[in-house]
Amino acid sequence: MALRTSPEVGGMGHSIKRKEDPRFIRGKGTYVDDVQLPGMLYLDIARSPFAHAKITRIGTSKALAIPGVLAVITGQDLAKYNLHWMPTLMSDTQMVLPVEKVMYQAQEVAAVLATSRYAAADGVAAVEVEYEPLPVVVDPKKALEPGAPVLRTDKKDKKDNHIWHWEWGDRAATDRAFTQADVTVKQDIYIPRIHVASIETCGCVAHFDKVNDKLTVWMTTQAPHAIRTVLALVAGHVGLAEHKIRIISPDIGGGFGGKVPVYPGYVIAIAASVLTGKPVKWIEDRMENLQADSFARDYHITAELAAKNDGTLTALRIKTLADHGYADAAANPSKFPAGLFHICTGSYDLKAAHVEVDGVYTNKPPGGIAYRCSFRVTEAVHTIERMVDLMAHQLAMDPADFRLKNFIKPEQFPYKSALGWEYDSGDYHGALRKAMDKIGYTELKREQAEKRKRGELMGIGISSFTEIVGAGPSKHFDILGLKMFDSCEIRIHPTGKAIARFGTKSQGQGHETTYAQILAEELGIPAADIQVEEGDTDTAPYGLGTYASRSTPTAGAAAAMAARKVRDKGRKIAAHLLEAAENDLVWEPGKFSVKGAPAKFKTIQEIAFAAYTNHPQGMEAGLEAVSYYDPPNLTYPFGSYVCVVDIDKGTGEVKVRRFVAVDDCGNIINPMIVEGQIHGGLTMGFAPALLEEISYDEIGNIRGGSFIDYLVPTAVETPKWETDKTCTPSPHHPLGAKGVGESATVGAPAAIANAVVDALWHLGVRHIDIPITPPKVWKLLREKGITE
Ligand code: CDP
Repeated sequence: MALRTSPEVGGMGHSIKRKEDPRFIRGKGTYVDDVQLPGMLYLDIARSPFAHAKITRIGTSKALAIPGVLAVITGQDLAKYNLHWMPTLMSDTQMVLPVEKVMYQAQEVAAVLATSRYAAADGVAAVEVEYEPLPVVVDPKKALEPGAPVLRTDKKDKKDNHIWHWEWGDRAATDRAFTQADVTVKQDIYIPRIHVASIETCGCVAHFDKVNDKLTVWMTTQAPHAIRTVLALVAGHVGLAEHKIRIISPDIGGGFGGKVPVYPGYVIAIAASVLTGKPVKWIEDRMENLQADSFARDYHITAELAAKNDGTLTALRIKTLADHGYADAAANPSKFPAGLFHICTGSYDLKAAHVEVDGVYTNKPPGGIAYRCSFRVTEAVHTIERMVDLMAHQLAMDPADFRLKNFIKPEQFPYKSALGWEYDSGDYHGALRKAMDKIGYTELKREQAEKRKRGELMGIGISSFTEIVGAGPSKHFDILGLKMFDSCEIRIHPTGKAIARFGTKSQGQGHETTYAQILAEELGIPAADIQVEEGDTDTAPYGLGTYASRSTPTAGAAAAMAARKVRDKGRKIAAHLLEAAENDLVWEPGKFSVKGAPAKFKTIQEIAFAAYTNHPQGMEAGLEAVSYYDPPNLTYPFGSYVCVVDIDKGTGEVKVRRFVAVDDCGNIINPMIVEGQIHGGLTMGFAPALLEEISYDEIGNIRGGSFIDYLVPTAVETPKWETDKTCTPSPHHPLGAKGVGESATVGAPAAIANAVVDALWHLGVRHIDIPITPPKVWKLLREKGITE
């Protein structure tokens, strides 16, 4: 996950420099926006100012009169090819362009095709659309009330705004545990809409080559193979067959889950290229990206936790409304409409749990995607970590002691959770104790007590999270039926150099480095001699892509398995060359030698050469292998974070004074990359805790639709992170590794929120929804009679 910087630094500056480089004039750009093809056309999109409105007229003549404008594409045009609606990854439907009405502010209304970007933008400004506003539904609770306007009138049998109901766990056992509990706590928790705001926006260059009847799409996607299949399934009827589609995902400047879905702009650009036979480029701008692309979170949660008087936790009960906007366009595994939210028992040995989620339609953009998290794990972690803290405070127990008492113990692994997951390994006590030592927990408690006497507001917050990553075992995990394995194909050339290709797609996580390291370790070929490639469906083996920290658990494992297949063949070739029995050979990285005669050996390079020049009779030539790895289980990385905050009574500002993060992702492949992942992740956890939110007014106007209101932290606001680690290998992963890319984003918000509530608990504050902004805290302090 690449660290985000401002678009000016990360986007424009880079592309301008690259365009001077002739390599990027051949359609082989580094970023999609760098791709330049002869005769390329440009697409720009007119968007709705209304959140819910009937379209009564689209006037195109003024736009068409602008020099350079070639066409204005409307929903009616796409309807001729049945391309005005498209399926979402959750088997719902979403408009490409509307025919009758718009459903959210900034929705695509018409597209302008022109010979330059400027003409396309002028064309968009000249498209005349007349609307008749319709009643707007913004609040999901109101959306479910009887008499609420039904939004999806396109679904003939739909009589309300309810999308689905999903529940998991043992309801009767959970209710029983609550009846028998000594203490219970209940809390409404809202986890607001946020946006990934990646360094590059979304875009594509679609090029339909009429001579070869082949469509190539350079595209900002985290899952190129799945996109190709979906495209073939959706557009097969207009002649786009899967073998005639090539998706290339070059550098995409951060994805964070936001580049998994298919957006209307991609489809319109492809349709325009197929119709004109010209390459068509569509790149959204920063505000379009924030306002119309998939959002994350937006969960309205009511959670209850039960315990005994001695502080033993017994049960968890959760009810949630999931606001999906006007279409469920999440990218969850098909079987789980609420993603992996049922990891919500977290790191605790809870005997009973029951969780219910209801999906709801509202007049907002569709989603929600897994923003740097494994399908709703952030929502789950935030809920359990807030609730555990609430219970500890309620029982007047130290939150650290309370956690240590209730953690799943190391000897309980593999551990079957009350909601059915089998945790592979963990040492939660070790991670929390390490974090407490590092931050000086006891001393901080003393300091806090003294400060409180002086009326100063200081808080200490803990989050001891467990994640669930590496989707996933094909028995339970698929997206639109495509099983969630992943792949590696490795070819060793005669001179011992190698090329390895993967079904995943790095967006800044450094796969090029870490995959080469895995192969180097397994084969003894220097990492510098291994070329790693991803993101081109014409060359890479099929895979489901990169999101949800799945690359190491799936494709990383596939790399090890493919390398081991190569080694097995290498052993046979070495035995032939050394005239020894296969069983008499011993492997050490880089060579096979004869047992007891170490001077008799063949290097992997010699073996590779022989594979093409002197292979045994009866054996196929060549040295290559492919592995499609279907993980037997998910991996369960974890960590303990401790945060110290000071609150300014005059302004309500929360200052994160210290933040210690101890992470455990099993065996680490590259410590520097893992540390980078944690640093970036912590910043992306700090952001929603204190700054970022997309909200709407009562008529569906977006707040937070530009970087003036949507506060992405810069280096100035970001705290100094103090990181450390423990190592508890995964017992089932071939390298003992677990995923790590998202741990910090998942774990950090609760540590900060818990610290703020801890600072204010003595004033009677029990909960504050994130983002905990200065106005929110200032108002609360005034309500409690606290002034500077
Ligand atoms: O799917 P994604 O690449 O986002 O997540 P990941 O599998 O957690 O990996 C993120 C980066 O950290 C990759 O470059 C991994 O190879 C690296 N990593 C590592 O070096 N050691 C681990 N135990 C886990 C990940």
